[in-house]
Amino acid sequence: MQRTCKKARVVAFGCQMNERDAETIAGLLAACGYEVTPLESQEGDERTVPDLVVFITCCVRENAENRALGNVAEMKRLKERNPGMIIGIAGCMVQQEGIREHIVKRMPWVDLVFGTHNIHNLPALLSRVEMGERVIEVLEAPDEMVEDLPAIRAYRHKAFVNITFGCDNYCTYCIVPYVRGRERSRAVDDILSEIRQLVADGCREVTLLGQNVNAYGKGLPPLPDGTQPNFATLLRAVNEIDGLHRIRFTTSHPRDFTSEMIEAIAGSQRVCRHLHLPLQAGSDRVLARMGRGYTLHRYLELLREVRESMPDVAITTDLMVGFPGETEEDFQCTLKAVEAARFDAAFTFVYSPRRGTRAADMPDQVDEDVKGDRIRRLIEVVNNVAGSVNQELVGTVQEVMVDGLSERDPSMMAGKTRQNKTVHWPARPGLEPGQLVNVMIQQAGAFTLRGVES
Ligand code: SAH
Ligand code: SF4
Ligand code: F3S
Repeated sequence: MQRTCKKARVVAFGCQMNERDAETIAGLLAACGYEVTPLESQEGDERTVPDLVVFITCCVRENAENRALGNVAEMKRLKERNPGMIIGIAGCMVQQEGIREHIVKRMPWVDLVFGTHNIHNLPALLSRVEMGERVIEVLEAPDEMVEDLPAIRAYRHKAFVNITFGCDNYCTYCIVPYVRGRERSRAVDDILSEIRQLVADGCREVTLLGQNVNAYGKGLPPLPDGTQPNFATLLRAVNEIDGLHRIRFTTSHPRDFTSEMIEAIAGSQRVCRHLHLPLQAGSDRVLARMGRGYTLHRYLELLREVRESMPDVAITTDLMVGFPGETEEDFQCTLKAVEAARFDAAFTFVYSPRRGTRAADMPDQVDEDVKGDRIRRLIEVVNNVAGSVNQELVGTVQEVMVDGLSERDPSMMAGKTRQNKTVHWPARPGLEPGQLVNVMIQQAGAFTLRGVES
């Protein structure tokens, strides 16, 4: 008799940390006998209501949290049609006690809650749920890191690789240190062996992940040669791995970026010419109140040093408007900083107070209308600058890594330059994800480039 396989769906919100965790959660579910299918293949199809859904949530801003809660609320209806279905919530949002209480009391259709520090326990937690128990289990960050968990990777040709977990910075607006725990670095050997295995499985690009990759190595024991591992030594070691075409990393912290790291990036051919370097704000007064540990002057000096050693480097950033006490004058400093830095792209956010963070208790919160006005003006300046930076690429030939057919227009291919810019060019049969091609850029907008193979 054929046994029908139970179907599971893993839905991730938030940043790359969650995307990476989703791969591990999918791997663990597969090890528990579930068939994990992509979201698209099941959405809206009544015949394929899954037996298990796990949401991996984000809480960095209020709208992220609302979106996650909205999705979980919708599951009530699906569960009414399939009462045996298991609904799980994981990720950053449930690390907060208040939200957990809300779920426990108000969302009785949720069967399983687990956090960012007990993913490895999922099989044990799930078997209790399968026996009929409602399991709510969230832990503090443990000292030991659990290595070698199974994973179903989202792509074959590129992969995220964690190098640090957590964050010790406590920027005054940010919830991440509270929900991801203190900063911990993985051992160099564990990172290198994960990457070697990925390459053996066909991976051509890795993105090293951490909330502050420049702090990598703190607290690790010295290497056999007596030196302390740091981000520069790690990059050089990853750069030695044959078969890997490209190395990326995110996120960099301007305060912890050293000249040694710039040299390591510039001297490592596989490391891409792209830095994501969040500035957050252009006013020194606001930066100080955010607890970022640098001034605009220091940030621009860092850019100058980076561009001097790598003239073709692309710089992207995160910017926030409406931090408590931000005046029109402060905001103007952010607009001027975008022009001065000539960012290739920027993620722009409206400040959102997060319970438990220092900024949430600051008295001078900015009016929502003012925030709305500022974000619109900021996006306009960011897009103008990005458009003109990209225009300079017209007529150049760029090395592009193939991602596949363009989702919007399957007559076109989509891929990324070493500067991490998305490029579209006419589809050619036989091109596989992970292959490198040269594309002559003919058109450039604020977000994407278009060209032909050369
Ligand atoms: N560790 C990274 C990313 C943290 S979260 C870093 O330090 O850059 C990603 C971005 O979300 C941040 O860079 C910041 O711009 C934004 N962000 C964080 N908390 C926020 C909040 N409370 N409101 C609005 N944006 C926020
Ligand atoms: Fe949040 Fe700051 Fe840590 Fe980034 S460095 S995760 S913004 S506390
Ligand atoms: Fe990432 Fe959101 Fe958590 S930004 S670390 S998933 S709070």
